[in-house]
Amino acid sequence: MTVLSVDVHPSLADLAEAAAGRFATKIVDLQRSGREPHVVLTGGGTGIAVLTAIAQSPACTSVDWTRLHVWWGDERFLPAGHEDRNDRQADDALLSHVAVDPKKVHRVPASDGPYGDDPEAAAAAYAEELAAHSSPQDHGDVPSFDILMLGLGEEGHTASIFPGSPAAYDERSVCAVRNCPKPPPTRVTLTFSALTSATEVWMMTTGEGKAPAVGMALGGAAGRVQIPAAGPQGSVATLWLLDRDAARAVPRALLGPTNR
Ligand code: 6PG
Repeated sequence: MTVLSVDVHPSLADLAEAAAGRFATKIVDLQRSGREPHVVLTGGGTGIAVLTAIAQSPACTSVDWTRLHVWWGDERFLPAGHEDRNDRQADDALLSHVAVDPKKVHRVPASDGPYGDDPEAAAAAYAEELAAHSSPQDHGDVPSFDILMLGLGEEGHTASIFPGSPAAYDERSVCAVRNCPKPPPTRVTLTFSALTSATEVWMMTTGEGKAPAVGMALGGAAGRVQIPAAGPQGSVATLWLLDRDAARAVPRALLGPTNR
């Protein structure tokens, strides 16, 4: 049973700084215990702001970046290095500023990569890479992610799982997504099977436009097909990191005394 917590911050900058501090503490503790952590990054404005804050956080100087595996919850299916790719934006915000081991930065194949302009083939290849890094005690065919970061769309999507879409029903770990309502239209996404293989899930979003979806997800008013952001939960903890505007419809019982 996951421990659900909701942290509400005055602004995106405060949220990002808080997330950076949590990231540093969690990763350093795991590394000191001998684990080589696996983290899943997300695209979107909030997710990238968090990566920028991590890059700027003094606390993160204690992270051994050479002993960290980086994955993506979803990727825009574009040529390598394209400015709209989530991994390019993560490079610009964080990964090009720290000493990550390129062999441990697991990028979704690009549309001009070895699998060609075939998102299904890229998805299958990413699923194989995940499986290759899964060990017997992990959740089947993906590693046990230590931190899985996600964003949320106004209609409730997370990663690139959109409400009622085939991805919401796909039982594989990774699938291709076409005709996405949020551009660019073609993507590769982890499915719920993979997004529920994390110790901690961090759902991070800001802005009043997200408040209805956040409220429905946390209020239990909708399941994961209608509001995909309601689906992912960590095996230990599920943390919602929100600004005040995005938290407007959160049930008060879920808000800590300082957040009410
Ligand atoms: C993507 C993201 C997507 C994003 C949400 C929220 O590739 O676009 O993975 O799931 O996290 O759409 O984006 P914003 O934080 O920019 O609203």
